[in-house]
Amino acid sequence: MIQQPEGSVLAVRNLTKIYPNGACAVNGITLSIASDDFLVVIGSSGAGKSTFLRCLNRLVTPTSGEIYLGGDEVTRASGRALRGVRRRVGMIFQQFNLVRRLTVLENVLVGRLRFCSGPVEGGSSLFRRFSRAEQELAFSLLRQVGIEQLAYQRADALSGGQQQRVAIARTLAQHPDVFLADEPIASLDPKSSEVIMGLLRTIHEERGIPVVINLHHIDFARCYAKRVVGISGGSLVFDGRPDELTPEVVEAIYGKGRHAPEPVSICA
Ligand SMILES: Nc1ncnc2c1ncn2[C@@H]1O[C@H](COP(=O)(O)OP(=O)(O)OP(=O)(O)O)[C@@H](O)[C@H]1O
Ligand SMILES: [Mg+2]
Repeated sequence: MIQQPEGSVLAVRNLTKIYPNGACAVNGITLSIASDDFLVVIGSSGAGKSTFLRCLNRLVTPTSGEIYLGGDEVTRASGRALRGVRRRVGMIFQQFNLVRRLTVLENVLVGRLRFCSGPVEGGSSLFRRFSRAEQELAFSLLRQVGIEQLAYQRADALSGGQQQRVAIARTLAQHPDVFLADEPIASLDPKSSEVIMGLLRTIHEERGIPVVINLHHIDFARCYAKRVVGISGGSLVFDGRPDELTPEVVEAIYGKGRHAPEPVSICA
């Protein structure tokens, strides 16, 4: 029976992940994510943020609990259903994860491979698989993230901020229902960080899809999030608005006597 709460795009119930070495990274998290959520997950290093996000698209297989995506149960999906989950739950990472020797355009087209059947090939043979319409779609996505002029550059010739824009365009190419970002600005300078956070906000507003972002910086969470979730020791310890992040709440998230990462000067 489908038990997804009404109005949620993604729902998690009693999610737990214990790694084979015994580390309990996620401990019984229950959470519903709706299309109007621009949600930032905060917590200290090792709190379980990445593990939580990776469970949502089954990059990590949960030990127990349930995840519902548009009525489908994610934790038991396999084969074609699992590929469908991975297409619908798009994700970007701190290290961008581009194919370095491919061009920017080809990297975006990689996002379209989830719509193709057959083996994945590399180089120019990859490029020839795509119709003119697919290539135009890739160009329009590059335009949306502001780097259309870099379409024929190799990915490894780009700055970190530009590479993250390519990763965003690649993820958009798979038409996700949910957009996840694991520390998307951790390798970037403050200016590029603001550009990337702004792009994620625009994606949320224009496409009407939920965006879930893991962040170290509490200040970026305060500036950009509509909703903040705090994780400590694998457990959900806060779920509220950014203006509810009082010093007591911050201490509960980051631990007594421990401090949140240093504030950075941001926010227009
Ligand atoms: N593949 C793994 N095998 C065993 N333990 C792991 C694995 N990945 C993570 N862990 C452990 O699970 C816990 C949560 O790790 P996770 O990477 O999810 O935290 P995080 O909040 O994302 O941390 P950070 O802010 O440093 O990225 C940690 O104790 C970590 O050591
Ligand atoms: Mg992490």
